[in-house]
Amino acid sequence: MPDFASKLVRWQRAHGRHDLPWQGSREPYRIWLSEVMLQQTQVEAVIPYYARFVARFPDVASLARGSEDEVLRLWSGLGYYARARNLLAAARRVANELGGRIPADAESLAALPGIGRSTAAAIAAFAFGERAAILDGNVKRVLARCFGVEGYPGERAVEQRLWRLAESLLPASSIEAYTQAMMDLGATLCTRVNPRCDACPIARRCVARREGRAAELPAARPKKPKPERRATWLVLVHGERVLLERRPPVGVWGGLWSFPELEGTRLRRFCTQELGCEIARTRRLEPVEHGFTHFRLRAQPLLCAVRGVAAAAPGREWLALARAPDAPVPAPVRKLLGKLRASSATTAH
Ligand code: ADE
Repeated sequence: MPDFASKLVRWQRAHGRHDLPWQGSREPYRIWLSEVMLQQTQVEAVIPYYARFVARFPDVASLARGSEDEVLRLWSGLGYYARARNLLAAARRVANELGGRIPADAESLAALPGIGRSTAAAIAAFAFGERAAILDGNVKRVLARCFGVEGYPGERAVEQRLWRLAESLLPASSIEAYTQAMMDLGATLCTRVNPRCDACPIARRCVARREGRAAELPAARPKKPKPERRATWLVLVHGERVLLERRPPVGVWGGLWSFPELEGTRLRRFCTQELGCEIARTRRLEPVEHGFTHFRLRAQPLLCAVRGVAAAAPGREWLALARAPDAPVPAPVRKLLGKLRASSATTAH
């Protein structure tokens, strides 16, 4: 047996989990049910649900006769309800199309709804002793750390590399103990944060341990850049006053005061018609960048020296530059007002 597998099997026998309710039996239905419940859910949460479920539906035939309502009720609180619907659909297919027999190899299991490649391999290994590799999130973490596999495992090329690695490591025998070892190691020692490398049977050959990179491996999902929203801020200045307007009550900076935003492209027409003022000169200022939860704002402020002004409409105000930063304005607007005030002070003297 390769050194990697034999260390894990020995560790599993001494330190792994042996008394989980679905262990100690090769009954494919129960193993299937447990593996589906254990997708995305921890052992402790699964145990009571598993017990109730097998008490009500002790075999695949009884499940196939069950109603979706009842299955969902038994699943209620466990989350990811597509799992329950797929489980029922698969049980019905087994009952109606496969003569009531659960497929006995990983490939045929993976053809059933809700059974992916890793779940199929786990069921086949535990129920039929098939030499098939699993690769769930925990196992990806163990392999990425131990063998220093770079890249985000959600990426196809990285995942394929991990599958090849997982297959190359399989022992010739003791597949059940080995499979359980991979699961137990990922769940109990090689945890995402604070892994317990001191107790790990493969620490001596672990790349992440040697290089102190457990926190970096596996690589996190690359952050998608947020979409960018652009705006043109009209910084209308008349003497020592600046025009601010109150933003609509809902949405970004709801109810706060900010610069009017240019709508369309016709600056002068927009200013006369919408804002009641006539522009004498304009100058582009430094763009302002601001990050929101779901987008980035890139605002281009346009400093406009104003000649004639009408009285401001309701919701707009010509504020003295000296007082404007005290108004309820968002931080990037306050910052720009501060700069404006400083430059008008220097030009005044
Ligand atoms: N996670 C997924 N399958 C598991 C199993 N059979 N035992 C413990 N944790 C698991």
